[in-house]
Amino acid sequence: MDGERLLLLDQRRLPDEERWVDATDPVVMEDCIRTLAVRGAPLLGVAAALCLGLLARAGATPRAFREAAGRLRAARPTAVNLMAAIDRLTAAAPGDDLSRVDGIAMDVFVDDVARCDAMAAHGAALIADGDGVVTHCNTGGLATVGVGTALGVIRRAHEEGRRVHVYVDETRPLLQGGRLTAWELRRLGIPHTLITDSMAALILRDGRAQRVFVGSDRVARNGDFANKVGTYALAVVAAHHHVPFHPVAPWTTVDLGCPDGAAIPIEQRDGDEVRGAAGSFGAVRWCPRETDAYNPSFDVTPASLVTSLVTDRGVFSADDLRRGALSALDG
Ligand code: MRU
Repeated sequence: MDGERLLLLDQRRLPDEERWVDATDPVVMEDCIRTLAVRGAPLLGVAAALCLGLLARAGATPRAFREAAGRLRAARPTAVNLMAAIDRLTAAAPGDDLSRVDGIAMDVFVDDVARCDAMAAHGAALIADGDGVVTHCNTGGLATVGVGTALGVIRRAHEEGRRVHVYVDETRPLLQGGRLTAWELRRLGIPHTLITDSMAALILRDGRAQRVFVGSDRVARNGDFANKVGTYALAVVAAHHHVPFHPVAPWTTVDLGCPDGAAIPIEQRDGDEVRGAAGSFGAVRWCPRETDAYNPSFDVTPASLVTSLVTDRGVFSADDLRRGALSALDG
């Protein structure tokens, strides 16, 4: 951001091309969100907030501002960070006064960096020297404006000098693990091995990984949480093999208005994402064009499968979650 323009690293083109998109225009930002040029729950909130901040600074009318806020808010339904960030901005713009919006947008940015640091500090203590860990989707610097959520925890343990080996689920259907997490880990110099999602069971059975860390798009009041589809299967497999399983999420991902996982809205995406794959290499389809395909972008993992939830406000054990510890921290 240079004060007038908002540039996003286009995540549709990674890992092969590092191309930046100008998403200052809210119409472009909306398209970037829908098509996952920008993605990851915390980053969605920050990107939308910065876009609206620039719009207000550029002198948009209150009506244009509210229309843009409404469109961005509806661009993806599951990550509550998107709605929370936009609601924070609109609450700061009562009536026709947009003068505070820009400053609040910067606060959303700065908050995310601090929350990532706090999660990393709390979560890294769970990782011992020599541990293998499994992770799913992408939860690092590409999904936040800080060090990340689950990947930030792993990164901190590595930076503190502990030897960690990361097993990266490729994360079908859009391959955020293979395309993005592998790209980040390589740049950070953290040892890692790419696996298909279906191999995680073997990795855990064979004792190659001692913990699982994942992110979240929305945590319900009772500790159930939504994350990239495939997380639930990973949690079941981890429980079967008695491997500790930890979602890592900033408080901006906790939705106390949502009683449990059944109330979390799950984004349904186009079946073509399952029928094949598209990327900087082009597009392929591996089944008949007419094949029916099911494509929920997220699934819900029940709190009963969580060993502990790592947040910027501390670590909550399964018992804490059962006792309603999240709602006790309301406000
Ligand atoms: O569809 P995506 O790529 O936006 O999904 C992202 C995830 O599921 C992440 O795990 C989640 O947002 C937590 S990231 C910090």
